[in-house]
Amino acid sequence: MSNKMWGGRFASGPDAIMEEINASIGFDYKLALQDIEGSKAHVAMLAQAGIVSAEDAAAIAKGLTAIRTEIESGKFTFSRALEDIHMNIESRLAALIGPAAGCLHTARSRNDQVALDFRLWVRDAIDGLDGQIGALQLALAEKALQHAGSVMPGFTHMQSAQPVTFGHHLLAYVEMFARDRARFRDARTRLNECPLGAAALAGTSFPIDRAATAKALGFDRPTANSLDSVSDRDFVLESLSAASICAVHLSRFAEEIVLWATPQFGFASLSDKFSTGSSIMPQKRNPDAAELVRGKSGRIIGALTGLLVVMKGLPLTYSKDMQEDKEGAFDALQSLSLCLAAMTGMVADLTPDIKCMKAAAGAGYATATDLADWLVRSLGLPFREAHHVTGRLVAVAAAQDKGLEELTLAEMQAVEPGITADVFGVLGVEKSVRSRTSYGGTAPANVRAQARLWLARLKKEAAPKASV
Ligand code: ARG
Repeated sequence: MSNKMWGGRFASGPDAIMEEINASIGFDYKLALQDIEGSKAHVAMLAQAGIVSAEDAAAIAKGLTAIRTEIESGKFTFSRALEDIHMNIESRLAALIGPAAGCLHTARSRNDQVALDFRLWVRDAIDGLDGQIGALQLALAEKALQHAGSVMPGFTHMQSAQPVTFGHHLLAYVEMFARDRARFRDARTRLNECPLGAAALAGTSFPIDRAATAKALGFDRPTANSLDSVSDRDFVLESLSAASICAVHLSRFAEEIVLWATPQFGFASLSDKFSTGSSIMPQKRNPDAAELVRGKSGRIIGALTGLLVVMKGLPLTYSKDMQEDKEGAFDALQSLSLCLAAMTGMVADLTPDIKCMKAAAGAGYATATDLADWLVRSLGLPFREAHHVTGRLVAVAAAQDKGLEELTLAEMQAVEPGITADVFGVLGVEKSVRSRTSYGGTAPANVRAQARLWLARLKKEAAPKASV
């Protein structure tokens, strides 16, 4: 049998393999609610403009509500022979209300319909992710305030560099996630134009009111060019770009949690809630959730790369290749949501071992820069010379397997006669972090102030908005 939605000029139905490659219902069923919402707005506008009768429009709206209930209660039967969600719903509408259902598709095409449905889905996803990233930032900022003064080693090249505080380290991620949210919001602004009414590609001869449907669906305005409206997938690409960068941030943090939780580092531990055991090695506590957050960045970045490749050779306007835009995007944005939830749980669960971190912060001559700075400040040495003198002092200490603060004053003066006992005032890790008071630096007072600032900001935006 030929397709009952478009098979007028077809004598027979498709080959089985044609049906299999063509059908998208296996994944675009996820657009069902957006499809119904879009159809309702469309038919209301058609009636308002006198393009369909008020009775037909009312029957269609009622039928769509009934279909929505069927879908939400799991009673709807999806059919692969009907290809996609748009035709599944329209066909069911015809079964429920009869020929009036055929009026719904006036002045519309599946091309603007799918562009609309997918925009609505991505917009909802962005809004959900924004809230989730905010919740993660809040968990991080709370922990940062608690640990504004907890010293840990800061690394460059994965070598101990200078002491920092654990709170400062966590707030670095709060900054990254703030940029992620800004990227999503920025993408949302450009996404928020309504393609409905572009029809197949050229617009329509019916006197439709695109501003009305745009408004009814929460868009800022209708899209301005019908060709662009049906062939643009920038809104998916931008969202996947933002998702990929966010996934990379999550992955970097996950990697740190994996490292910190090793017995070799011992900087922090996850409770039983976020650890798994090994089936053969009874001693093991594996940070699987962190590893999976790190691992899932692969599929998120993959979805972005995949869609960029799908789009790169497509002439205007719609081509069926574009049906390949959905699975990766659904998977990527849902995976990101799962990763954010898992990371928020881990942040709350993570217990730093402050003693261990502090001991590590003091190892590896991490206060050598403080000593060099002291030589500049107190003896007026040029920084390069101070760097050299400090290097020699480190060598003396290392030869005796001692810390810098364990050298005697005489040993120091043998290298640089100007050094006084005053130097010992800058050599501890606590003193080192306390001295880093430059804006954005790691001094506990700075970190405390920044954490409080973030907490106030995040709590304010999380609070329910007063209704007007
Ligand atoms: N299932 C299609 C998609 O996801 C809907 C649009 C089909 N349009 C068409 N002219 N065949 O892209």
